[in-house]
Amino acid sequence: MEHTILFGADAIAGEVRRLASAIDEESTKSLVVVTVLKGAVVFSSDLVRAMDTETELVFVSASSYVDGFTPGTELTVRKDGTLGVEDRHVLIVEDIVDTGRTLQALQETIQEERPASIRTVALVDKTVRRSGSFNPTYTGFHITDEFIYGYGLDWDQRFRDLPFIAIANP
Ligand code: PRP
Repeated sequence: MEHTILFGADAIAGEVRRLASAIDEESTKSLVVVTVLKGAVVFSSDLVRAMDTETELVFVSASSYVDGFTPGTELTVRKDGTLGVEDRHVLIVEDIVDTGRTLQALQETIQEERPASIRTVALVDKTVRRSGSFNPTYTGFHITDEFIYGYGLDWDQRFRDLPFIAIANP
């Protein structure tokens, strides 16, 4: 299948470096990086390697159709069902923020654990679809209402492995 590339691998790498530096600049202590499965896995793995700040990795799964989230793998879940981020600095990583509901619900749930701080980063921001006033702390690319896939983002669970972001309806 031929893809129409919207953001190529080099552009993505540049944006990842820029976001990593911005996060580093505002981080004094180690961070608990909460990656939202599945889409954010590719971005997150590049991001943490581009950051100088020491990180601890946690994975959660979330659905934009359900209010809330469930922790992802048993390895990262504590017996008490928390992420164990009390008094820790948290960075939630998303591939895309659309209505903003997922990130907002996740942030509110994690807030209950009384972390020292919570910041959020999304590689792609689709502001036109935002339902409330929630915005990530750091955002990469801005798009309008295009359907995009690749670099973690799926099209019916396909193409997450592409090294670029493509557009389905150019
Ligand atoms: C996507 C994306 C965010 C959410 C954003 O996940 O990864 O988690 O939607 O939408 P929102 O801002 O409207 O809440 P999706 O449900 O497609 O799951 P996936 O990451 O497993 O592909």
